[in-house]
Amino acid sequence: MPDLSVRLGPLRLEHPVINASGTMELFELVEVLGSSVIDDPPVAAYVPKTVTLERRAGNPAPRILETTGGMINAIGLPGPGLRAFIERELPRLLALSCPVIISIGGFSRREYTALAGGLKEALDRSAGGDWTGRVGLEVNISCPNVCSGCASIGGDPGETAEVVAAVRALWPGLLVAKLTPNVTDITAIGRAAAASGADALAAVNTFKGLVIDRETLKPYLGNVTGGLSGPAIKPLALRTVYELFAAVDVPIIGMGGVATVQDVVDFISCGATAVAVGSATFREPCLARALSEGLGRFLDGRGLALGGLRGTAHTRE
Ligand SMILES: Cc1cc2nc3c(=O)[nH]c(=O)nc-3n(C[C@H](O)[C@H](O)[C@H](O)COP(=O)(O)O)c2cc1C
Repeated sequence: MPDLSVRLGPLRLEHPVINASGTMELFELVEVLGSSVIDDPPVAAYVPKTVTLERRAGNPAPRILETTGGMINAIGLPGPGLRAFIERELPRLLALSCPVIISIGGFSRREYTALAGGLKEALDRSAGGDWTGRVGLEVNISCPNVCSGCASIGGDPGETAEVVAAVRALWPGLLVAKLTPNVTDITAIGRAAAASGADALAAVNTFKGLVIDRETLKPYLGNVTGGLSGPAIKPLALRTVYELFAAVDVPIIGMGGVATVQDVVDFISCGATAVAVGSATFREPCLARALSEGLGRFLDGRGLALGGLRGTAHTRE
């Protein structure tokens, strides 16, 4: 098997396939798959769902619907908040054998710095020694549905730069900025994040959409709009990775509709260093492992090294 390891800032990943935030509950999978899923996670790094500073109930129901080639959700970041996350979730995350990338989401720069600062303090206290090779941070500046009609921080290069720089000033480990595709020019946002200290970009979050209830002829989702994910968005997501690769020098975690080995190959060809599986894990929880093994066979068959595949879509020959 070829060497599939990749680096994201100070994190070393065994292979390039991870999960997308909010789509895999590793500890709940134990009930179905047994403890092996924790002893030997199917992902090269585990990304829990986005943590917010305060407890949140999320959006009104209905929150999720299967659509043609994907799904639409307006879950609205429900969760117990940072304090409960640190008490209940962090200890078991630190016991995992793979690196962890904690996703945080806020509604202001102050909330992001409170989240990053609180996590750093907790890690300094409980992780034992230098934890920067085991734990990273993903700044989710992209959720489109936390407040219908509100623009996200990730929709504006200036606000993106402010939030990323403020978190960078106090976070010593891997810092990923997760971008929204719901912008006119994603490269402007990506450049702002990278220039402000992001070690990597995650591209992309869901695409803002809407579905109509056949009976009532009104918007189906309680939040009216939601985020579209799954195979339907793959060409759109690929385009964002392609554009970002040409615009920034930091590694990109590509995601959006990944379900097959070919999808992984496509994202890496466009410039992704790592690839995240989201909606497809609902059907197949251990898909990430199968995809990394398939990637190894693909590279072997082509006589390629992983680094030789990255960005090939950008050259003519
Ligand atoms: C049910 C659901 C919940 C999600 N929750 C989060 C979240 O908490 N934080 C986040 O950054 N992205 C969240 N996402 C977006 C995914 O991480 C990913 O960016 C997006 O779904 C595209 O990948 P996919 O097409 O493979 O699903 C969520 C997506 C889905 C479908």
